[in-house]
Amino acid sequence: MKRIALFASGNGSNAEKIMLHFNKHKDIFVALVVASKPDAFVIIRAQNHSIPSLVLDKNEFTKTEKLLTELHKHQIDFIVLAGFLWLIPQYLIRAFQKSIINIHPALLPKYGGKGMYGMNIHRSVINAKEMESGITIHYVNEEYDDGEIIIQKTCAIDTNETPDTLAKKIQSLEHEHFPIVIESLLVPNKS
Ligand code: GAR
Repeated sequence: MKRIALFASGNGSNAEKIMLHFNKHKDIFVALVVASKPDAFVIIRAQNHSIPSLVLDKNEFTKTEKLLTELHKHQIDFIVLAGFLWLIPQYLIRAFQKSIINIHPALLPKYGGKGMYGMNIHRSVINAKEMESGITIHYVNEEYDDGEIIIQKTCAIDTNETPDTLAKKIQSLEHEHFPIVIESLLVPNKS
């Protein structure tokens, strides 16, 4: 059984899709939710699925071993960033080599980096008159949105597209693909 931790900073709609997808799964278990804010809605979602959650402040996250201790206590094998906005510190990258992935709501390497999240991204994409946008799922390294790309899925940008309508398209791409991509990484031989 592979045990995953979901890291999220806010709403957690992707996190919940993942919780639902792996509910009673034979090989994968969502064992922990890590939130960067005590009022993140993802914590309520975790409670609704009887999944324990952990809230850390930035100092604990970057400068202490508390998180590592908790991840080991919950026997976590794999970390999924699902709308998590803090840079992942080196100690975590070292402890989870090739075992941390992130989802980004644009086609990296464009529209990535610090400050590029949520509506900022969709506004920039539309202002630049791009013909398409999409999602990127990638391994995490010490830089924002920089690790090896696992998969990208695209959607067209219509002439009357707004940041809101684009956000909805991107969210449905995320919900459709993220759980399945996690499954294919952790249980590669499943047909
Ligand atoms: C998602 O669109 C995800 O791609 C994005 O945050 C959103 C979280 O939504 N992540 C980033 O921008 C990371 N740079 P959710 O809380 O509803 O799952």
